[in-house]
Amino acid sequence: ARAAGDCAPQPSRMSAESDGSLAASRCATAVANSNIALIKYWGKADERLIIPRASSLSLTLDGLSTSTTVQFGASDADSLTIDGTTQQGTALNRVSAFLDIIREKAGINLPARVTSANTVPYGAGLASSASAFAALAGAACEAAGLDATPRELSRLARRGSGSACRSIFGGLVKWNAGHDDESSYAEPVDSGDMDLAVIVVLISGEKKPISSREAMRRTVVTSPLYDAWIDSCQDDLDAALAAIRQGDVERFGELTEANSFGMHASMMASRPAVLYWLPETVSALNAVTSIRDGGLGAWSTMDAGPNVKVLTDGRDAERVADELRNRLPDCEVQIHRPGDGLRFVR
Ligand code: DP6
Repeated sequence: ARAAGDCAPQPSRMSAESDGSLAASRCATAVANSNIALIKYWGKADERLIIPRASSLSLTLDGLSTSTTVQFGASDADSLTIDGTTQQGTALNRVSAFLDIIREKAGINLPARVTSANTVPYGAGLASSASAFAALAGAACEAAGLDATPRELSRLARRGSGSACRSIFGGLVKWNAGHDDESSYAEPVDSGDMDLAVIVVLISGEKKPISSREAMRRTVVTSPLYDAWIDSCQDDLDAALAAIRQGDVERFGELTEANSFGMHASMMASRPAVLYWLPETVSALNAVTSIRDGGLGAWSTMDAGPNVKVLTDGRDAERVADELRNRLPDCEVQIHRPGDGLRFVR
């Protein structure tokens, strides 16, 4: 389906070159999948450049994607349309600020029309800044005539939203925290024989009470548990990478669940507390434990919201999903398999 905007023929006024505009009409469309962190990113060392306090590891998922078209010079000011709705305020400002980075690199000063469409297979509340900024980085670079490598695209996407740097790549992906713009980028991790799936248990599609950006800032500044959790992240990452190399899904799952609980514990210890959980969240977390007690491999992980995601061996995914549906009849339960990285629509 052609979900995002079209790259329609451009008016001839686009051909001026002397004022920093583009030689040819420039429009591009890119599609990116969302990703779920298994060893989490939570907290920045550098707010402006979005350098994280610790490296993280994620799985890019199929079926939760954003398709974005960027067209330079077709409007008088930057504009943003998401799923057919024109955006103003924070959302538009964040996209404009991101486009400024691209414009500066490309040496252009044209406004851009950005049209974006999300595939949300069920409910709502899973629209992700990761797929959004990965697709925007790709489409904007291409439209601006920048020839960026995947690593450069990852660094750029990071400037829009940290987790977006991982969505440039498919499958398992590691974001090296680094210490500056150049050294902070994501790269694919060989998953060997591992066949993974993530089952999303949709508890609420409502807007979250506090943005992840604000919540992670509060955690870093006020939580006495934060430094302890950050210290655990490097060990968790090393152990997770070793488990992946050994094809040990169970060990990987244990690390995933522990790292997520540690992140939420550090949030809850913030002052005031950051609490994304709802009563149904606890029911879902207990359901995962009981499924595991029944002998099926299933491990929970959660992000900045009440929904629970369950990591499992791909071969167990249908059975785990059925067990979840039995225990949580009011929740929507959906299986996601590993997805591809950024692609361009030509
Ligand atoms: C809990 O990438 O949305 O999903 O960099 O401020 O845009 P910003 O934050 P964002 O945070 C994601 C946090 C997380 C964990 C993760 O994806 O690693």
